[in-house]
Amino acid sequence: MSIILDKINYIYSPNTAYEKQALKNISLVIEDGEFIGLIGHTGSGKSTLIQHFNGLVKATSGGVYYNGADIYDTDYNLKELRKKVGLVFQYPEYQLFETTVLKDVQFGPKNLGLTALEVDLRSYEALKQVGIGDDLIDASPFELSGGQKRRVAIAGVLAMKPEVLVLDEPTAGLDPKGRDEILGQIAKIHEERKITVVLVSHSMEDVADYVERIIVMDGGSIAYDDTPRNVFSHYKELEEIGLAAPQVTYAMHALRDKGIPVDVNVTTIEEAKEAVLAWYRKD
Ligand SMILES: Nc1ncnc2c1ncn2[C@@H]1O[C@H](COP(=O)(O)OP(=O)(O)OP(=O)(O)O)[C@@H](O)[C@H]1O
Ligand SMILES: [Mg+2]
Repeated sequence: MSIILDKINYIYSPNTAYEKQALKNISLVIEDGEFIGLIGHTGSGKSTLIQHFNGLVKATSGGVYYNGADIYDTDYNLKELRKKVGLVFQYPEYQLFETTVLKDVQFGPKNLGLTALEVDLRSYEALKQVGIGDDLIDASPFELSGGQKRRVAIAGVLAMKPEVLVLDEPTAGLDPKGRDEILGQIAKIHEERKITVVLVSHSMEDVADYVERIIVMDGGSIAYDDTPRNVFSHYKELEEIGLAAPQVTYAMHALRDKGIPVDVNVTTIEEAKEAVLAWYRKD
């Protein structure tokens, strides 16, 4: 069970003055249950790439396979695929349109032809998982804060029970508290639902604490695809492509430069704490 991208190229507006190759020879395997961070500078091709996962954008060349099936086969059911691969777009709050929070979340599952009971069960469960309490269920989506709106939009996709959840910059424009809440909830959803999660972000800092694998995009190509630890060890090269490693990476290098022999390849604050304590206790 996986998503396979085989040598994908994508060109916007081919053969016009606006021609732009957004993806260059991307090959990638996403296994069932993975939690992946997709990182890259603005314009590096992240949003274009993820829209290939559910066939919303069709590659100019190359193949996409979902659970072994070629999604570009003429008889492949793309509608089914879009139920299985749920995409939460950048700034999804602009797509909220119903009169109440609950109705907005129910919209997707209703269109799946489920019973009213099943639609309700799924909607309540999804809202609970994103931390929207009963007090907000009948509120207008427009009365909510930015972070709450974002979570309602995520609940709408969750209620479809996707096998793969792809979130395009779910933390963009949120304050640190809103950001941590959403990331924490996404991590919990990954854990509890055992689904594959792809989290798109500009920020290494955002994903370092959560994901098991980081894919770094640069100018439409994959620059790195590895564990956070291995990716951040290239922190100098990351800076050259407009990205920064988490602050803790820099702090550990600074300690090392001052003659304190700590492990510089830690990626989270918790690991940094352990590394510093390990050194401290040794003396
Ligand atoms: N509809 C479009 N028509 C032409 N070019 C486009 C279109 N959408 C995106 N592009 C170009 O394709 C490239 C990749 O864009 P994409 O939106 O995938 O990047 P991104 O990594 O998601 O950026 P951001 O972090 O700003 O969201 C960019 O150079 C962008 O200008
Ligand atoms: Mg984007």
